[in-house]
Amino acid sequence: MTRRILIAGNWKMNLRLAASLELVDALKSEAAAVANVDIAVCPPSVYIQPIAVALKGTNIGVGAQNAYFEKDGAFTGEVGMEMLHDVGCQYVILGHSERRNILGESSEQVNLKTHAALAAGLIPIVCVGELLREREAGQTENVVRRQFDGSFSGDIENLVIAYEPIWAIGTGKVATPDQAEEVHLAIRKMIEKNYDKGVAEAVRIQYGGSVNDKNAREILAKPNVDGALVGGASLKVESFMGIIKSA
Ligand code: PGA
Repeated sequence: MTRRILIAGNWKMNLRLAASLELVDALKSEAAAVANVDIAVCPPSVYIQPIAVALKGTNIGVGAQNAYFEKDGAFTGEVGMEMLHDVGCQYVILGHSERRNILGESSEQVNLKTHAALAAGLIPIVCVGELLREREAGQTENVVRRQFDGSFSGDIENLVIAYEPIWAIGTGKVATPDQAEEVHLAIRKMIEKNYDKGVAEAVRIQYGGSVNDKNAREILAKPNVDGALVGGASLKVESFMGIIKSA
């Protein structure tokens, strides 16, 4: 089974509308000839609609960085999955470590959000990953397993998992290709154990954490690495395109 590489840009809380439109305008012409990779950009939710309009009919999809699990109702300040789908969004990042650690999001909430995203026809990109002290204590696999067990239940065939070691996010300290491959393989085995071999073979597992146009090729060459979730390097055309072209 060959899994298509997915390169997604997580813009986090960066850029303004004019700069965002300029970035996607340049990306869409640069990426037009790319046929072997799925590409997505994930802007702040307030910019999703204009960006989805700008990218309509191109080979670049749009994702959100979070959303709420309830469908409608009295949830002041929240955005629902169907609303995202309604404005042209195809992906939603869920359980990013910044949401787990800064905004206090639990695996239970991530699980509810994952189901809501799938029900709304979105592809969830669900993040897992360990802290530096957990890695140093030899706890990486246990931490990832706990997040995996807590964040997923039910049908997961259509989702994407992003392994993002927290110590590698925004720090310039990228995991070595072997470190990434080791955890990706462990996650694939967890999927096989909880589901079956077919599901394990189908689920895409992205690596995230200081991926750039210099280190992407080696990481993406690993058999269980099916793409990258890119923060800082997705904010510039050259570096994001460099990563896409490394796939
Ligand atoms: P980074 O962020 O590429 O800037 O390390 C990745 C992420 O947090 O998704």
